[in-house]
Amino acid sequence: MGNSRNGHDTPAPVSTSPSNGVGASTWWRHGAVYQIYPRSFADSTGDGTGDIDGIRSRLPYLRDLGIDAIWICPWYTSPLNDGGYDVADYRAIDERFGDLAAAERLVSDAHDHDIRVIVDLVPNHTSSEHRWFRAALAADPGSRERDRYIFRPGRGPDGSEPPNNWTAVFGGSAWKRVDDGEWYLHLFDPTQPDLNWENEEVRAEFDDIFRFWLDRGVDGFRIDVAHGLVKDASFPDLEVTEGLLESNRGFDHPYWDRDGIHEINRRWRSVLDSSGRDVMMVAEAWVQPTRLPLYLRPDEYHQSFNFDFLAAPWQLDDARAAIDRAIDAAASVGSAPTWVLSNHDVMRHTTRYGLPADANWREWPLDGPHELLDQELGTRRARAAALLLMALPGSVYLYQGEELGLPDVWDLPLDVLDDPVWENSGHRQKGRDGCRVPMPWTTDGPSYGFGAGSAWLPQPDSFAELSVEAQERTGGSSLTMYRSALELRGRLFTSDEAFDWIDAGPGMLAFRRGSGAACVVNFGPSAARLPDGDVLISSTPLVDGLLPPDAAAWVTPGGHD
Ligand code: GLC
Repeated sequence: MGNSRNGHDTPAPVSTSPSNGVGASTWWRHGAVYQIYPRSFADSTGDGTGDIDGIRSRLPYLRDLGIDAIWICPWYTSPLNDGGYDVADYRAIDERFGDLAAAERLVSDAHDHDIRVIVDLVPNHTSSEHRWFRAALAADPGSRERDRYIFRPGRGPDGSEPPNNWTAVFGGSAWKRVDDGEWYLHLFDPTQPDLNWENEEVRAEFDDIFRFWLDRGVDGFRIDVAHGLVKDASFPDLEVTEGLLESNRGFDHPYWDRDGIHEINRRWRSVLDSSGRDVMMVAEAWVQPTRLPLYLRPDEYHQSFNFDFLAAPWQLDDARAAIDRAIDAAASVGSAPTWVLSNHDVMRHTTRYGLPADANWREWPLDGPHELLDQELGTRRARAAALLLMALPGSVYLYQGEELGLPDVWDLPLDVLDDPVWENSGHRQKGRDGCRVPMPWTTDGPSYGFGAGSAWLPQPDSFAELSVEAQERTGGSSLTMYRSALELRGRLFTSDEAFDWIDAGPGMLAFRRGSGAACVVNFGPSAARLPDGDVLISSTPLVDGLLPPDAAAWVTPGGHD
C-alpha cells in the first residue's frame, strides 16, 4: 500500500521486494535499451516519414548491434505538433506510422529477434485533438467534460488575464483562453492540454491504456513527464521561470515533482504487476538527483532516467561525482542505475562534447560563436563516454544513430524547423530537430537509405560516410566499436553489480567490476599508462601502449594463458 506523507517524502529503506530488490536478475536491471524515434528511423513507404514496417525491416540490424530492448517514441494517432507527444488516441497508431496490426507484428517479430519492446506513454497531457478535449471545448464551464482537464477562470476584472503566471516549457504562458472566457493549462504547447489527475476517470482511463498495450505483448513503458501530472490545487504564482532541463529546483514546486505523484506511480505499478509478466516502467523525471530514489521505491517505477551525467561537463570530477550520485541513489532503494548520453530532446553528445564546458548548447546553434565547436574532439569524447557508460553497473539507454557517432545537425536551415520550441520561444531557440534528423543507412540514395524518397528533415552530406553501410566496412568505426562493446558488456559487466573505484593515476577515471575487468578513461591532457592486463577494447587506438587523452579502454587482468 501507499506510504505518502505530508510534506516531502524521504526514501524508504532498502526493500526486500522480490521484483526490484538487489539480486533480482531481471533484464531491465542491466539491459541495453535502444531508443527509436519512429519518424526518423526507417521509412518503408517512401513518403519521407519513418514507420513501423521500417523498424521491422531493421530488426536484424538491431539484433546484430546487441541490444536487449527497443523503446519506441510515441506512435499513436497524433497531429505530430510535438513529434507525437501530443496523443489524440492512445489505442490507435498514426496512419503515417502504420496501424495496430503493424504494431502487433513488430512486437512479435522483435521478440523473435530476442528484443523486448518498450512503448512511450504520455499521461501529463493529450493532444487538443483528443476526443476528450474536443468534448471539453464543446461543454460548459464546470462540466464533467471540462473536469478531465484543468480549466480555470482568468484574472482581472473581465477574466482576460491568465489564472497565474506559469510559463510553458516551450515558451509563452502556460494558459490558453477558450471562446467562453475560461482558460486551460498546457505546460507544453497549447495543443497539449494538461489532464486533471485529481479526476478518477482520468486515472481509470490510463489503467486501461496500460492494459491495452500489455495485452499486445509489450514489455515495458517509458512514462513521459513523470514528474508532472499533479498540480498545486491553489495554482499559486511561481517566482521563477524554468526550462525543460531545469524543471525542478528543489523547492515545493506547484507542478513539478509533487508528492501526490507517488500514489499514481503505485497504482500503475500494481497494474503492471498484475500482468504476471516481467514488464517494467521507466520514468522520464527531470528531478533533483536526491529526489530520484522516491520514484524508484519497490512499489513504484522499476527505473528512472538519470539525466545528471548527461548534464555534466566532460571533466573528471564532474563525471565521477555524477556516477557516485547515481549509484548511491539507486542503491538507497535497491534499484539499479541507468545511463544515457543522448535522446530526442537534447543536442547529440558528439556535438555537446565538442563545445566548451560553459557553452549553453541550447542557445549556441543560433547565437554561436560557431567556431567554438571542435567536432573531432566531440566525437572522440563521445566514443570514450560510450565505453564508460557501457561499463557501469545498471542499464544503458542508447539513442538511435549514436552508434554511428552522428553529430547534431545544429545548422538545419530555419525554414525546415518543425519543433514547437522554435515558434514558442519567439525564435530564440532552434529546438530539438538537430538530433532528430533521419538515420543514414547507405552511402547514397535520396535519403541515404532511410527511404526511397527524401527525408522529412534534410540530412547533411557527412551522413554518407557515417552511414551504416560505410561503417560496416570500416574497421574501428563507431558502429564496430558499439557492436564489440555491447557484446563484451554482456560477458563482463551484466552478471553482477559490483563496482569499485581504482587509482590509475592523475587525470584518469578508473573502476573495476565484479568480473575483474576495469574501465579506464583519460580525462587528462596527455597519453597515460593503463593498468596491467589485456586491453579488450579502446575508444581510440593506443599510442605506444598509452591511452590518449579523451579516450577510454577496458582492461582485464592478464596472465590467463
Ligand atoms: C518529454 C518528451 C518531449 C516532449 C515533452 C512533452 O519531455 O521527451 O519530447 O516534447 O515531454 O510531451
